[in-house]
Amino acid sequence: KLPKPFSIPLPILKPLAPDSTDAQGVHYSMTLKQAEVEILPGYRTKIFGYNGTFPGPYLDVHAGTPMVVHQTNQLPVPIVTHLHGGLTPPSDDGFPTDLVFPQALADMADPGMAASMAGMDGMPSMKDPLAHLTAVQRDYVFPLNQRASTLWYHDHRMDFSGVQVWRGLFGLCVLRDAEDDKLPLPKGEREIPLMIADRAFDADGQLIYPEKDPTLLGKPSMDKSIAAGAQGDVILVNGAPWPYLEVAAVKYRLRLLNASNARRYELKLDGPGGGEFVQVGSDGGLLAAPLTHSTLHMSPAERFDVVVDFSKYPVGSTVTLKNSAASGGPGQVMQFKVTSHAADDSSVPATLSTIEKLTVNGAKRRLVFALDGDQWHVNGKAFDPAHPLVKPEFGKTEQWTVTSVERHPVHLHGAHFQVTGRGSGGLGEYDHGWKDTVELSPGSEITLAVRFDSYRGRYVAHCHNLEHEDMGMMATIQVV
Ligand code: C2O
Ligand code: CU
Repeated sequence: KLPKPFSIPLPILKPLAPDSTDAQGVHYSMTLKQAEVEILPGYRTKIFGYNGTFPGPYLDVHAGTPMVVHQTNQLPVPIVTHLHGGLTPPSDDGFPTDLVFPQALADMADPGMAASMAGMDGMPSMKDPLAHLTAVQRDYVFPLNQRASTLWYHDHRMDFSGVQVWRGLFGLCVLRDAEDDKLPLPKGEREIPLMIADRAFDADGQLIYPEKDPTLLGKPSMDKSIAAGAQGDVILVNGAPWPYLEVAAVKYRLRLLNASNARRYELKLDGPGGGEFVQVGSDGGLLAAPLTHSTLHMSPAERFDVVVDFSKYPVGSTVTLKNSAASGGPGQVMQFKVTSHAADDSSVPATLSTIEKLTVNGAKRRLVFALDGDQWHVNGKAFDPAHPLVKPEFGKTEQWTVTSVERHPVHLHGAHFQVTGRGSGGLGEYDHGWKDTVELSPGSEITLAVRFDSYRGRYVAHCHNLEHEDMGMMATIQVV
């Protein structure tokens, strides 16, 4: 039995307390474990959770101070964690085969058996599948030497990221810096992260996902039956179904993340007199100048940092965040109830930041995202951890043209990029600023300027429809 929409208060994310801060950085601990949590009122749902929560703990951190996350894997499956949007050395970027094994598999005397249990046998060209395996725990070190932005972290285990994220392995990380802090944007209780994710539940309140082997230890279980990716009919925001938030009639900064596996949203504010979003930031942080949108198109993994001015609505009114890309349950997201007047000294300045405009001086490449037969490919190839599909040159600005006949959210690790055009047209409405994920609409072509200038080594580029990713739509990149 599903709750009535807008009957449950929005969970306000509280920052995880660090264990300590020292010369290495700020230290956090997370134990990945199975837990039962209340997502739908009256039901205990089994999840996989960082610290046993759904979603995982909220990390609130400052640029320039490295973040060290000590992870202990008490789940029955291998895991690997990626900080999405982070500029992280390859060793700590969550490459899909850099697995942290659970104790039971780590204890196996025969590494071949352990690899096979983890679904890693029979992988073409993986001569040494256990080369990067570590058992039970590891520290991830994130330098956070980058602009303030809304980041998130999630599981990235090869062939299983969709189901492991669906079960709960995702969380938010807000990265701050002095430039962003000093802007007069709404702050404190008026800055609200909203992580939107859909899920499906059975009659007992358990998560439903179309995996064939629920132990997640056999062979990859994706197939064409979920060619569109896993979608659910319940929309969760910060882990609660169709919640509401009481707001004062003032401006709020909403940090929106589409944390869904495969669902895209067309978000609108439905209140007296309509509604608009003033976008101040994108995946990679502040825009140069604010942009006003009446609708926000968000593909999986994209972030939109927006200001909404609730003083435009009478006290006592409700403003519903709707998803016009769907009807029924997925057509509603959450509701704001404007309950009081309050003073507001926040504002949205006409200039937010400066953004270096990238100029191409390196290679031009073309990446074709396609379904070939029943296999999702990039340039005709399924994911191959051992053989890079592209070798971008460190420090050069390259032009990448990505194209597809289907719809795919295209994501790069290791660098942010700038969209330079869509087909023969200019930028789309949502393409401004630094991006790490961009929606490729069916039959379209996007050109990007990208400069890998943080670290050399091995990364991935992939479709962020997690089921497409798990079915092979991922490429190895070697920055040389
Ligand atoms: Cu959000 Cu490679 O992932
Ligand atoms: Cu895709």
